[in-house]
Amino acid sequence: MPLTAARFQSNRVVDFKESVIREMTRIALAHGAVNLSQGYPDFPAPVEIKDAASQAIADDVNQYSITWGSKPFRNAIVDYYRHFYKVEIDPERELTVCCGATEGMISAMLALLNEGDEVIVFEPFYENYWPDSQLCGAVCKYVTMLPPTWQFDYEELRRAFSSRTRAVILNSPNNPTGRVFNREEMQLIVDLCEEFDAIIITDEIYEHIVFDGEKHVPPMTLPGGRQRSVLVNSLSKTYSVTGWRVGWVVADPELTASIRKVHDFVTVGAPAPLQQAGVTALHLPDSYYAELGATYQQKRDLLVRILESNGLRCSVPKGAYYIMADISGFGFKDDLAFCLHLIKEVGVGAVPGSSFFSRAEDGRNMVRFCFAKKIETLELAGERLSKLFRN
Ligand SMILES: Cc1ncc(COP(=O)(O)O)c(C=O)c1O
Repeated sequence: MPLTAARFQSNRVVDFKESVIREMTRIALAHGAVNLSQGYPDFPAPVEIKDAASQAIADDVNQYSITWGSKPFRNAIVDYYRHFYKVEIDPERELTVCCGATEGMISAMLALLNEGDEVIVFEPFYENYWPDSQLCGAVCKYVTMLPPTWQFDYEELRRAFSSRTRAVILNSPNNPTGRVFNREEMQLIVDLCEEFDAIIITDEIYEHIVFDGEKHVPPMTLPGGRQRSVLVNSLSKTYSVTGWRVGWVVADPELTASIRKVHDFVTVGAPAPLQQAGVTALHLPDSYYAELGATYQQKRDLLVRILESNGLRCSVPKGAYYIMADISGFGFKDDLAFCLHLIKEVGVGAVPGSSFFSRAEDGRNMVRFCFAKKIETLELAGERLSKLFRN
């Protein structure tokens, strides 16, 4: 009997589409475009941590680590949160080391959400949150952040809560907007979660990439926030090692017990030698983080100048490494048409804004550019972007 493939497609995935970000990267590579789409650096990772990874492999740290993370790496995570935020974490009961923030997020959501639960998501949002919710059978309720400052309206947020709300998914510094939520906003969210008995799943992967004196405030550090936070983080962005796939989740012991159950069966564990190198990463001196923020601020300023001088109006980001630009003046049918033209005729890759919205039309006048690139790469993109005017 011929295979009826459709019969074997789970209802959970029928509405999934290929990630637009990864698709744009592929098309950009195929056309030799300067790739400012997917969020990864084109410059080297710190030499100390590459050496530590080689050393760990040479030392034969090559077998499974403990499922929820090697002891030295969990201890290093504890030191890190004590150092940066004066928060004490129990490495035995409150930490799960995962394969990147991506696995941390889905393991946490699968462990903590049920069919029909509602999750509040600030929109525009990082594209994984919707499929993650779908896999859990949870329903996304969106709260709008409006350009150019990407503020949200407190009343709209409050109205989004209901007796079915189980979690708020928060990402600050934010991809794609560069918004950094301030202490008051974080406290408002914590307070609403207390009132409605919900948790905050907080993706803090860009915590050190902040500009203009901004500072990231983890909800975990606020009154009422410690127990309700499920903090997701990873080595990917802070140490420029997106391919290592090492992340972690910090949560209350009871929540952690559930998260570990999912994590154990989904991945068994994160790469052991790279966790060992993570110990070196998490113990880098403060100067490393200061330089990271300062260097990214220079790259941000350069790309804003390039985009603006080529007619692309920017919302200037306060954190993370993306710029949302307004393309409404160019007369393209939509953001996808603009991005395809940009790749094929101009030679620059970017991501259509609609990929960050629940309704494509809300993002049709926006395009996201990534500045986690060498200065030369950004300058080359600048030379090419000057062709935009000739169309
Ligand atoms: C907001 C956000 N969370 C998570 C990830 C993925 O993180 P990881 O590489 O640790 O899986 C990304 C990658 O771009 C991101 O932008």
